Amino acid sequence: MKKFILVNQKIDLYKKKSIYVEGDKSLSIRFVLLSSLSAGKCIATNVLKSEDVISAIECLRKLGVKVNLINNTCEVFGKGLYGFKPKKNTILDAGNSGTVARLICSILINLNSKIKITGDQSLKKRDMSRITKPLKQFGVNIRDNKGKLPILINESKLLKPITYFENLGSAQCKSAIMMAALKVEGTTKLKCLPSRNHTELMFKNALNIPIKIKKQKNYDLINVTGLKKLKKFNYKVPGDISSASFFIVLTLLSKNKSLMIKNININPSRIGIIKILNMMGADIKFFNVKEYKGEKIGDIYIKSKKSLKSISLNPKFNSSAIDEFLLIFLVASKCNGISTFKKLSELNKKESKRLDWGIKILTLMGIKVKKIKNDGIKIWGDPNLNLKKEITIKNFLKDHRVFMTSMIAALSFGGIWNIFDPNSSKTSFPSFLKILKNLGAKF
Ligand code: S3P
Repeated sequence: MKKFILVNQKIDLYKKKSIYVEGDKSLSIRFVLLSSLSAGKCIATNVLKSEDVISAIECLRKLGVKVNLINNTCEVFGKGLYGFKPKKNTILDAGNSGTVARLICSILINLNSKIKITGDQSLKKRDMSRITKPLKQFGVNIRDNKGKLPILINESKLLKPITYFENLGSAQCKSAIMMAALKVEGTTKLKCLPSRNHTELMFKNALNIPIKIKKQKNYDLINVTGLKKLKKFNYKVPGDISSASFFIVLTLLSKNKSLMIKNININPSRIGIIKILNMMGADIKFFNVKEYKGEKIGDIYIKSKKSLKSISLNPKFNSSAIDEFLLIFLVASKCNGISTFKKLSELNKKESKRLDWGIKILTLMGIKVKKIKNDGIKIWGDPNLNLKKEITIKNFLKDHRVFMTSMIAALSFGGIWNIFDPNSSKTSFPSFLKILKNLGAKF
């Protein structure tokens, strides 16, 4: 693929009325990891075939698990909760994926050989102490490198259940603790701030694991009891709302368009972007809503809006839109008025420093923007935004969401954009550029 993509015209009329996007990344990774622990062959359809999911599969293969991924159907021949037999000094490479690095540690807690977990340049900068800390509390013999990768896991002595407060609102952290708890005799008690709840739903509705969940006003209480055996299960992965969001925002920001995005996971813990955009004056609707193994699935209908309102966002929406903020900042750029977003320190801990990248992209577009309190952003919207200038986006640690958001900005606002590292979209959304072209984008 090319080193960069040149975009010098806005997208014209859409050639399609509806699209599908690829399978949900969080659900695809959870399916492959959990099925590797189950007793037998598990099959899932519409599994996302992206680099992050392939990293998870490659790690499992190194642990001796047989996995077939043909088209988008994935078969995993589970080894049972205690069945991994890695070779001595195995090294697992989680690539770019925080989810893979963090969740895989939790399924390796009771091996009797040494294992190293590493990742790419971006992943090596990310915080791992958020999972090594609770895993150490279980009694796991685990070491990180000043809070970062590589992580070393060695044979542990007796593991005991823990009581833990997950106070970052991180689904990866919550899920790592829940998955580790499956392998530890006794009941682990978790108190956690809200974050996506796919692991809870998969435990309950796909694996029939008797977990207890109590919803309190500001947090959830989750009890997970260790098991001897995990049953095998099958799964149908719905489309990813984070991928759909690029097309939601493209449609909203460009002229006279409408689009139906079909078969999307619209789990309430993931639809922050829809709620936020509707508060800003969009008119996004769900159709054909149904439930599958606890997850809500539906079609999303969106049309362009001439006038959008600024927002002062209540941070209670942050976790349900955590991967969509770069796109939300683009929408705020075109609003009437000043928008503010606060308490977003987690954004700077993603594949790149996304809060800083938001500021950088908007500044390059000529939008007035200010960082507030080191973890927030204030955006002075311009409803007549129509770019003529030349903009180059590069050196963003190949962060897929920075690349794809820049493409959407270029196609909605105009100007001449050179956007580097198009390959990065393969991390989470390999068909992104193809869908754009099929809709009518020229680049
Ligand atoms: C994910 C959780 C989120 C999200 C990431 C995927 C998951 O991260 O940003 O893309 O699958 O659990 P945090 O849990 O760290 O917020």
